[in-house]
Amino acid sequence: MRRHASTAVVLLAAAGILFPAFPAATAADIVAAPTGVTIPKGYRNWQVVAPSQRDDKDEIRVILGNDIAMKAFRTNRLPFPDGTILAKLAWKRVKSAEFDKTFVPGEPQRVEFMVKDVRRYAGTGGWGFGRFVNGVPADEKEHGACFPCHEANVKGHDLVFTRYAQ
Ligand code: HEC
Repeated sequence: MRRHASTAVVLLAAAGILFPAFPAATAADIVAAPTGVTIPKGYRNWQVVAPSQRDDKDEIRVILGNDIAMKAFRTNRLPFPDGTILAKLAWKRVKSAEFDKTFVPGEPQRVEFMVKDVRRYAGTGGWGFGRFVNGVPADEKEHGACFPCHEANVKGHDLVFTRYAQ
């Protein structure tokens, strides 16, 4: 009996079940912004809605959308349905080292997300806002500024600035 038990332990260990080299992420590993928004898995593989630039900050941005977002953009669906997630990635705008008429992304500055969930985020127009710098969520004060600016400028477009670039 005992021999069988130890054989089982050896087999399980060999299969990486008892001592996995890379344990699965637990809830505690996932960092949430004060709004509860977390960095969505796989967002870097989402499709491009549009690029943008900001002059005063000298930044290049790209806005990405998950599948639900892309479908809504392509069919001009407003308001965006629950499950829509938009991502905004921002980099410093620097001159290309190889061709000085071209600007390219330099240091990453931040990633931001807008998650549509009408019930959960009823207080902020149905959108949950999240900002992360190097994977670390920004503070409550910064998060307090998201909704007011989006609401003040693009209330008529479900709080979304970016339009789909064909
Ligand atoms: C002062 C105004 C302002 C504030 C504050 C602001 N945004 Fe935005 N946001 C914009 C503008 C303008 C755009 C359009 C794209 C760009 O600027 O590159 C945008 C775009 C976005 C997008 C892409 C979807 C869209 O609406 O086009 C996300 C995601 C986003 N912001 C998240 C946030 C988060 C999260 C915060 C708060 C931590 C925040 N924003 C605060 C002005 C603002």
